[in-house]
Amino acid sequence: MVGVPPHMHIMNGPYTNISLEAMPSSGHRKGMAQPSQMHIALSERAKTLPGSAIRALLSSARSNVALDLGGGIPEPDLFPGPLLVDVFSHLIATDAAQALQYAPTEGLLPLRARIAQRLQQRGCSVTPEQVIITHGSQQALAAAAALLTSPTEPVALELPVYPGARQAFALAEAPSVPLPVTEQGWEMAALKRARVAVIYVNPSYQNPTGRSANIEQRRLLAEYAEATETFVVEDDAYGELGFDAAPTRPILADAPTRGILVGTFSKTLCPGLRVGWIVVPRGLVEPLVRILQASSLQPGTLTQHLAFGLLERLDWQAHLGRLRCCYQTRAFALHARCHELGLHAAAPKGGFFLWVRTRGAASRVAAVAAAHGVLTVPERAFQHSVDAGPDRHLRLAFSRFRDIPGDLEKLATALGSGSVL
Ligand SMILES: Cc1ncc(COP(=O)(O)O)c(C=O)c1O
Repeated sequence: MVGVPPHMHIMNGPYTNISLEAMPSSGHRKGMAQPSQMHIALSERAKTLPGSAIRALLSSARSNVALDLGGGIPEPDLFPGPLLVDVFSHLIATDAAQALQYAPTEGLLPLRARIAQRLQQRGCSVTPEQVIITHGSQQALAAAAALLTSPTEPVALELPVYPGARQAFALAEAPSVPLPVTEQGWEMAALKRARVAVIYVNPSYQNPTGRSANIEQRRLLAEYAEATETFVVEDDAYGELGFDAAPTRPILADAPTRGILVGTFSKTLCPGLRVGWIVVPRGLVEPLVRILQASSLQPGTLTQHLAFGLLERLDWQAHLGRLRCCYQTRAFALHARCHELGLHAAAPKGGFFLWVRTRGAASRVAAVAAAHGVLTVPERAFQHSVDAGPDRHLRLAFSRFRDIPGDLEKLATALGSGSVL
């Protein structure tokens, strides 16, 4: 907004005029009469792109928080802080010239090789060249959407859906078709009714329901994708965070020409590094790299070096074991507390979330809970269109639930009080 004259009107081009509240930073000078409105031409895309309902909800309720079950945020005590200090000091002392320099758009090859190796251990036949590093997996989703969809090439999005995926495909202006996620798995008939260019799924410990597709459902989706030449974008954000299961077999393993996998270190190392990745069939590497060049030139060199340094020094299985143990304890505690309050949720098996059934409108329950300082997210936030659709569940994040004495009372007051449940 800096440098844009107040009351600017742009009448030409494909844009229509809209008004924005003047930002405090724009043209604000002492003694000047301040315009209350400023007219700015925005693209259709910018006008219609939905914001994150969850971020809005949680930031508006930030003051007076007694119990935060809202954001799917990792436990900071599990961040590898001290190790990161060592890795950073060593890196700067020995390799600053490279670690602080520009680097390839595709990402650092040794890091890509590590990620490929882990996917190979899960049954995928993937080479390091197929793994492209991104700025978190959110950029990977946006790049996949830009690569494969357009206003005439729709995407099937799970319903309920991770809102970040909905935003990423909305940025590419892709129309969306719902793919219902039920207790029995994806409703495949929905795919057969509507031809889409891409299918987005989050098959392991889904955000928001916590549900996972079983081997057979994954295989069926892979077969469908290969047979119909439809790309499947598989969001694997929580794939390594099953409580007692070995990491699941990705859909990618059975869809070699149509499978695309998106992953992240946000949940297993720390989100502040912003290191994610996207794995694509060989033929898509070159166009994907052009899209990523256009949007960010390259992922951060320093954070990739840090992530790689952490992987070199950590015993990955032992590290994952610590994370799973902590999140499992929290999940079981929150599940037990909900049970005591008469709230039903399926037993958690991994990831960060419980999907709790409410008797009344979940958005009303969430509002009452927020007024008591307990943050939760209602089902509406995970619809394709935020104002419509079922409203009978709350997503509760157990990732930072410490089960401190008194929390049960806070939950009870917030969720169990009144006639909202
Ligand atoms: C299912 C899912 N996918 C992707 C992301 C994005 O993570 P990041 O961009 O930090 O890698 C999240 C974050 O919460 C998520 O829950």
